[in-house]
Amino acid sequence: MPSIIIFGASGDLTSRKLIPALFQLYRKKRLPADTNIVGFSRTEFSHDAWRGQLSETTQKFAGKDFDPKLWEEFAKKIFYHPGDLGKDEDFQQLCGLLKELEQGKSTTRIYYLATAPQFYPEAVERLGKSGLADEKDGARRIVIEKPFGTDLESATQLNEDVHKVFRERQVYRIDHYLGKETVQNILVLRFANSIFEPLWNRNYIDHVQITAAEEVKVGRRAGYYDTAGVVRDMFQNHLLQLLTITSMEAPSRFEADYVRNEKVKVLQSVRPMTPEEVAKHTIRGQYKGYKQEPGVAPDSQTPTFAVAKLHVDNWRWQGVPFYLRSGKAMSCRTTQIVIQFRDPPHMLFAKEKHKHRKVEANRLIIHIQPAEGIQVYFQTKVPDAGMAMRQTTLDFRFDNQFAGTMPDGYERLLLDVMQGDASLFARADEVELAWGIVDPILQAWQEHEQPPMAEYDVGEWGPTEALYWMGNDDRYWLDVCPVLKSSAAHD
Ligand code: BG6
Repeated sequence: MPSIIIFGASGDLTSRKLIPALFQLYRKKRLPADTNIVGFSRTEFSHDAWRGQLSETTQKFAGKDFDPKLWEEFAKKIFYHPGDLGKDEDFQQLCGLLKELEQGKSTTRIYYLATAPQFYPEAVERLGKSGLADEKDGARRIVIEKPFGTDLESATQLNEDVHKVFRERQVYRIDHYLGKETVQNILVLRFANSIFEPLWNRNYIDHVQITAAEEVKVGRRAGYYDTAGVVRDMFQNHLLQLLTITSMEAPSRFEADYVRNEKVKVLQSVRPMTPEEVAKHTIRGQYKGYKQEPGVAPDSQTPTFAVAKLHVDNWRWQGVPFYLRSGKAMSCRTTQIVIQFRDPPHMLFAKEKHKHRKVEANRLIIHIQPAEGIQVYFQTKVPDAGMAMRQTTLDFRFDNQFAGTMPDGYERLLLDVMQGDASLFARADEVELAWGIVDPILQAWQEHEQPPMAEYDVGEWGPTEALYWMGNDDRYWLDVCPVLKSSAAHD
């Protein structure tokens, strides 16, 4: 029987993601019996008032899966404790409430930090001081939301603070991208099939493109976003996770440390950039109108878009560039990984006068979202046209092959924490290595002479410079947007 204690319970994450995910787990009969969910934050609520509020928000986010009768049953598991992270006595009272709910039974407790990140150290310290991290009556685990630090130094400090109270095996650092089915499917695609892996290296792959484009603008999150920017917000975590999963070696077992050891090796192999290389291999941009968004500094130099070319210096990937790109206010929402293969060594079928014209390369495209699937691009003979060729695709779509809606990533991640499986969570060294990759970029932009911030129109693929940037390497972005669209309602 687990108790899940959410700190920062009155915030957006709890109502938008955590409670709907727990409700779905309950609906699917995956939530262990006798689970208690306890919200902790400063706002005053009674248990019932909080349940009432969550009922409305869950209805909104769970959509047609919301069944009021089921919710009534589920809501009995939800409790609320008004409290201040800065007050010892509030933790003591929380302790009392948990003991009452758990009735002396050995219970796994999961402390979920959904507060603003500046409160993480304090929350951890108080959990330690109040004895709540003590494992004598059951396992104690802590879940820490992103952002985990704002640079290498602060992330290292946070790891130290956490390790004063919790051992690493008790710590679950969330990257919600790892909860996505389509991201986990990259592991299955690579390691449960034998046809892809022999090609998955520098001998056959020309380069890799990883794009996470968003249509949304900064919205109501300027307070956080304007201090973070796209590199901290998307590259340090989500994009580097996609890069490691795409490029890691096969672990010998699907267990937390085996998987994370392989990811760590990739991050250790990513070539750090000098300021001169940052100037050459990155572009930063800001969408027009960003400075006028509520809460954004009028002279803000925060990038809302960036591209970066990274190299993974190991035997498998030497010479294969990884082009990463992410931005807000772009033309459409898509997260996709394009694996582009090398050109055939000799072209038999082009007419003499076209002998030097390049044929479109083979590509394997992993569509993470909103389309969910995989495409293979390859050349096909055009019927009744001599040996003329055309690029065609083989498409796999989850919604064509599997019934039901895709679960939200938080469902899987919360269940994994309850089961003590940290395979899909970042380890301390992983987070620090990721900061070690992006810090030199951020520092170069701030402290060294660099090309100025480029502006872009809302609804574009970032600044013009970024569109043609790969042209210097004789390559170009493959923008397939909207993607994998056919009859069904995508996007
Ligand atoms: C979050 C970022 O981690 O990921 C947001 O803070 C971003 O700025 C979001 O919008 C993207 O997540 P998803 O699942 O919509 O791709």
